[in-house]
Amino acid sequence: MKKIAFFDTKPYDCLFFDKYGSSYDIKFFQNKLNEDTVVLASGFDGVIAFVNDNISKNIIEHLYESGVRVIALRSAGYNNVDFHAAFEKLTVLRVPAYSPHAVAEHAMALLLSLNRKIHKAYNRTRDFDFRLNGFVGFDLYGKTVGVIGTGKIGRCFTDICKGFSMRVLAYDPYPAKDSGLEYVELNKLFAESNIISLHCPLTEVTHHIINKESINRMKDGVYIINTSRGQLIDSSQLLESMQDGKIGAAALDVYEEESDYFFEDFSQTIIKDDILSLLVSLPNVILTSHQAFLTREALENIAKTTIQNLDEYFSDGSLTNEICYLCKTNDVGSNCEKRKKGERCF
Ligand code: NAI
Repeated sequence: MKKIAFFDTKPYDCLFFDKYGSSYDIKFFQNKLNEDTVVLASGFDGVIAFVNDNISKNIIEHLYESGVRVIALRSAGYNNVDFHAAFEKLTVLRVPAYSPHAVAEHAMALLLSLNRKIHKAYNRTRDFDFRLNGFVGFDLYGKTVGVIGTGKIGRCFTDICKGFSMRVLAYDPYPAKDSGLEYVELNKLFAESNIISLHCPLTEVTHHIINKESINRMKDGVYIINTSRGQLIDSSQLLESMQDGKIGAAALDVYEEESDYFFEDFSQTIIKDDILSLLVSLPNVILTSHQAFLTREALENIAKTTIQNLDEYFSDGSLTNEICYLCKTNDVGSNCEKRKKGERCF
C-alpha cells in the first residue's frame, strides 16, 4: 500500500478522504507543509497538499531526497508550487474543477451581504436593536459588474449576475468562445464597473492587478470582490483607497498574507498584520477565511479527484490532471492544446 502524507488536515477533509482513500495508507498531519514540517514526509511515496502549503524549491528538494515523487494538490490554484524546481523531480497533480458553483455562489453571497449590510444587521438584531440607519444598499438590477477571468468560476459568476439582470463586462486574454459575453479592455472594465469581481489565477501578470493605478481608473464607490487569490490585490493600496472613500466596499475570501492566519484560530492573539487588522475593522469590509470552496459537493469532488489522480500516477501514468510545466511558464494554463489532447508538452 502506497504511503501518502496529507498536510494541513481539517476535520472536514477526513470525512471524504476516509471514504475514497482506503486503498492508500494516508497519514493525516494537521501541520502545514513548510521548512519545519517537511521532515514528516520522509519515507512517504506521495504528498497531498493544499493552498497555503509551501511547495518552494527547498521543500521540493527535501521531499525528493526523502523519496516523495508526487504531489497531489487538493486545489485548483497552484501558485504555491515552484515548477522550475519540481521539473523532472516531482509530478504535480491538481483538482482542476471541484465546484465552480461553490466559489461563484460565495462571491455573490459576499456581494449581497456587503451591499445589503447583512453582516451588520445580523449583529444589530441579536442585540434587539431594530434600527435601519446605515443600511441603505442599491439594486443590483441594471448595475455593471466587471468580471476578470471567465474560466469555470468566472462563467458561473457571470451566469448568476445575468440572473440578477446585471450588465456584465468581461476581461480575459483567452475569451470564452460563443459565451455571448461582452469582452472589453481592462481599462474600460475598470472605468465602467460598479462592482469588480476577480476570477483569474495568480500569475506574474495578474499579481497586484488591483493596484493604485487601476484603482484610480475605477468609479468612485466601486465594490471589489476577491474570491480568487489574495495577491491579485495590493492590500495596502486597497486599505488606503477604502480609507479615503474611493472604494465603496470590499469582500475578500482571500488575502495577500493569508497563509500566516487563515484556517486557524487567532481570537486570543494580538494580530501583528496591521493591514489585515485595519481591513477587518472597517464596516464596509467582509472577510471570509478562504471558504468559498467549502461545500459538501466540492469536498467530495476534491477527495474523489485527488485519489483518482494518485491512482493514475501509481498505475497507468495517464496523469489527466498533471500541471503542465511548459504551459505554466508560458502562462496559458488550461488552454494548452497538447494537454487537451491528452499529450504532454514536456
Ligand atoms: P480557470 O482556469 O477555469 O479560469 C481562469 C481564467 O482566468 C481563464 O479563463 C484564463 O484565461 C483567465 N486568465 C488567465 N490570465 C488572466 C489575466 N491576466 N487576466 C484575466 N484573466 C486571466 O480557473 P477557475 O477554476 O475558474 O478558478 C479561478 C481561480 O479561482 C483559481 O486560479 C483560484 O485562484 C481561485 N479559486 C479560489 C477558491 C476559493 O476557495 N476561494 C477555490 C477555487 C479556485
